[in-house]
Amino acid sequence: MSRGADDAAARVRDLRDAIRHHEERYYIQNDPEISDDEFDRLLHELEQLEADNPDLIAADSPTQRVAGSPIEGFATVEHLMPMLSLDNAYGEDELRAFDDRVRKGAGVGSAAVGYVAELKIDGLSIALTYEDGRLARGATRGDGFRGEEVTANVRTIRAIPLRLRGHVQGRVEVRGEVYLPRAAFARMNQQREVAGEPPFANPRNAAAGTMRNLSPVLVSKRGLSAFTYQLVSLASGGESAEPPGARLHSATLTTMRAWGLPVERHWQPCAGIDEVIAYCQTWAGKRLGLDFDTDGVVVKVDDLAVRERLGSTAKFPRWATAFKFPARQGTTTLRRIAVNVGRTGAVTPYAVLDPIFLAGSTISMATLHNAEDVARKDLREGDRVLIEKGGDVIPKVVKPILPHPEGAVAWQMPAACPVCSSPLRRDEEEVVWRCENTSCPARIQRSLEHFASRSAMNIEGLGESLIEQLIAQGLVRDFADLYKLDATQLENLVVTPREPKSDRSRPRKLGKVGRNVIEQIERSKTNDLSRLIYGVGIRHVGEKAAATLARHFRTMEGVLRASAEMLHTVPEIGPVVAASVRAFADESRNRELVARLQGEGLNMVSQAPPPTSQPGPLAGKVFVLTGTLSDMSREQATEALERLGAKVAGSVSKKTSYLVAGADAGSKLEKARALGVETLDEQAFLQLIIKAS
Ligand code: IVH
Repeated sequence: MSRGADDAAARVRDLRDAIRHHEERYYIQNDPEISDDEFDRLLHELEQLEADNPDLIAADSPTQRVAGSPIEGFATVEHLMPMLSLDNAYGEDELRAFDDRVRKGAGVGSAAVGYVAELKIDGLSIALTYEDGRLARGATRGDGFRGEEVTANVRTIRAIPLRLRGHVQGRVEVRGEVYLPRAAFARMNQQREVAGEPPFANPRNAAAGTMRNLSPVLVSKRGLSAFTYQLVSLASGGESAEPPGARLHSATLTTMRAWGLPVERHWQPCAGIDEVIAYCQTWAGKRLGLDFDTDGVVVKVDDLAVRERLGSTAKFPRWATAFKFPARQGTTTLRRIAVNVGRTGAVTPYAVLDPIFLAGSTISMATLHNAEDVARKDLREGDRVLIEKGGDVIPKVVKPILPHPEGAVAWQMPAACPVCSSPLRRDEEEVVWRCENTSCPARIQRSLEHFASRSAMNIEGLGESLIEQLIAQGLVRDFADLYKLDATQLENLVVTPREPKSDRSRPRKLGKVGRNVIEQIERSKTNDLSRLIYGVGIRHVGEKAAATLARHFRTMEGVLRASAEMLHTVPEIGPVVAASVRAFADESRNRELVARLQGEGLNMVSQAPPPTSQPGPLAGKVFVLTGTLSDMSREQATEALERLGAKVAGSVSKKTSYLVAGADAGSKLEKARALGVETLDEQAFLQLIIKAS
C-alpha cells in the first residue's frame, strides 16, 4: 500500500531534520542522544522514502552526499612536508640495482645495508595529525603538496585511534593507507547489486570513492580500515616528535604500534638485499591469503641517518622503492560464452577459455558477471582476450584484444534456459535474466546446495555431487524430500566420485558415509528457525535478515502470515526484503513445502531470545481495534502494536489513547467520539506504526 504524497513529503522533512540534528550531536558535539542503531534506522528510512519518491530528492538531503557530488565540502590543506611517491622496481634485477644505488649513495662500499620490507597496501594514502596525542586532522595526499581535509571521514575509521596511548606531546604526523578489507568490499558490492547500482571494480576504487563521500555516517558503514607506516617528525618548539633515541625505522614502527596505531604486522627487518628478495618472493605467493589487497613490497632503508644522507628527488625518496608483484594478467582465446543457472534462477554468463597459466595456476574459466557486461565489453566467441587474476580467486575477462576475428558476432543471451528449456525473462529494472521454472533441475540443485550449506541447515556431507546423484536418481526434488530419505537408501546409493583418473572413480556404494549424512539430516531438524528461514532461500533474505525475522516473529507461521507493512515495521527489514518475504509466502507451492517440512518434524520456532523488552516507542498507549482492516488481520495489528510496546484493549474507555477504526466500524466508534478519544483510520494507523518503528 503506498502512502500519500503529502505524508511522504512530511516524513522526509521530519527525517532530514532529525538526521541533521543527530549528526551534529554525534560528530560536532560528541554527545549523541540516540544509539547508532537508532540513527541508522532513521537514515535507512529516509533512503527508502527517497528511492520510492524520487521527486522528493533534494540536493541537501543527508542521503545525497555521495561520491561524484561537488567536493566543495572538503577544505584544501597544505602538507607540512610533501607526500612523495615511490619509485618502482620490477623483478630481482631492479631490486639489486636499487641496492647498488643505495650503497653507493650511503658510501658503505660493499657492506650490506639494513632494510625494512613492508607490504604495500593498495589503498589511498592519508596523513594524520595528532596534537598532544589527539587526532586533530586527516588529509588525503592530493597532488602531494595539497590534499583534502577529510577529518570527519577519518574519524569514522575504527582502526584509527582518536587518541594515542601514552603521553605523546606536541604535533605528530603519521602517514598511512586507508583501505577496504576484502570482506567489506564483497559485502558492499553485494549491497550495490541489490540496490541496482554498478559494482566497484576493486577495493581500492571503493575505498577512494568512500573517502570522498561527504557523509561521514555513510563512510562509517562501509567498513574502511587503515594501516600506518611512517612517522613524520614535526618540530614543535624545536622538539622532535620522533620517539626519543629512535635511529631506526624499525624502532619507529614498534613505537607507533605501542601508541595504538595500526601497523601491518608482516613487516620484516632484512640484513641486505638478498633477504629483501626472499621476502618479495614469499609474499608474491602468500598475498592472496590476506584480507586486504597488496600490490607489492615497499623496501626502505632502516637507518634514519643513512636516509638523510640519501635524500630525495623531486618525486621519490632515494631510500625506498616499491617492488611490484609479477603481472597477474595474460591473453588467451575465448572459446565459448556459456551460461550458469543459479538458485534463484539467475542466468549468468561465464567464459570458457583456452587454458592459460597465470600467477601460479591454470585458468580455463572466468566470470562475465551479466549480459550487459558482455555487451559493454563487446566480447565475442573466438576473441583474443585479456585475463586478470584480481584479488579474488575468480579470474575475470578484462577486454577483447581488437580486432574481433572475422565472422565473430555479438553475443546474445540464449532465449531459453540451457538446462530445462524454459524461456528466460528479465524484469525491466534488472540486469539479470532468469529461468522462472522453479522445477528447473539446475535451480533445484543450487537450492539444495544452499539449503545444506554451513550457514544454512549445515548438513555435513551433503555436497554438490551427492545432491546431483540424489536428483538424477529421482530421490529428491525439494528440501522436504531430504527428510524422507532413510539410512538404507543412502548406504546403497551408487555414486561415481568426481576425480576421473583416481582408483576411486569406479561407481561404488555410499556405505557408511550415507549413514552419516542421514544422521546429519536428522540433526538439522532441531536447527534454529533462523537457519531454516535462510535455508529455504527467500530472495534478498540473507543470514542476518533471517535471524531478525526469526527473533521477531518467533515462528515460521508468524513470518509467513505477516503483511508487507508489518514486516516493514521490523527494524532492519526494508521494503525490498519485506516484499520478497510476502511474495514467497503468497506462493502456495512454498506454503505447501513449509507444511511438509513441518510434517517431517523440523523445528519451526525461534530459540533466540525475543527482542529486548525495553519500553517500546508506544509504551503506555492503549489501542482499541474495531471494524475490518483491509491490509492486515486483527491479530497482526495487535502483534505489531504489542511489539512496539502498546497495549490493545477490547473496549473503549477514558483510558483509550486511540481507536483504530476499519471499515464498517460500529458502536465503538460512536463511544470513542463521545469520549473524545482520537480515532485513526487504517491509513493513519499504518503511518503511526511505521513512524514508531
Ligand atoms: S612509504 C615517500 N609504505 O604507496 C613515500 N608507502 O606508490 C613513503 N604505500 O604514496 C611511502 N603501502 O600511499 C609506504 N608500507 C608502505 C606503503 C606505502 C602503501 C603507498 C603510499 C605511497 C604509494 C607509492
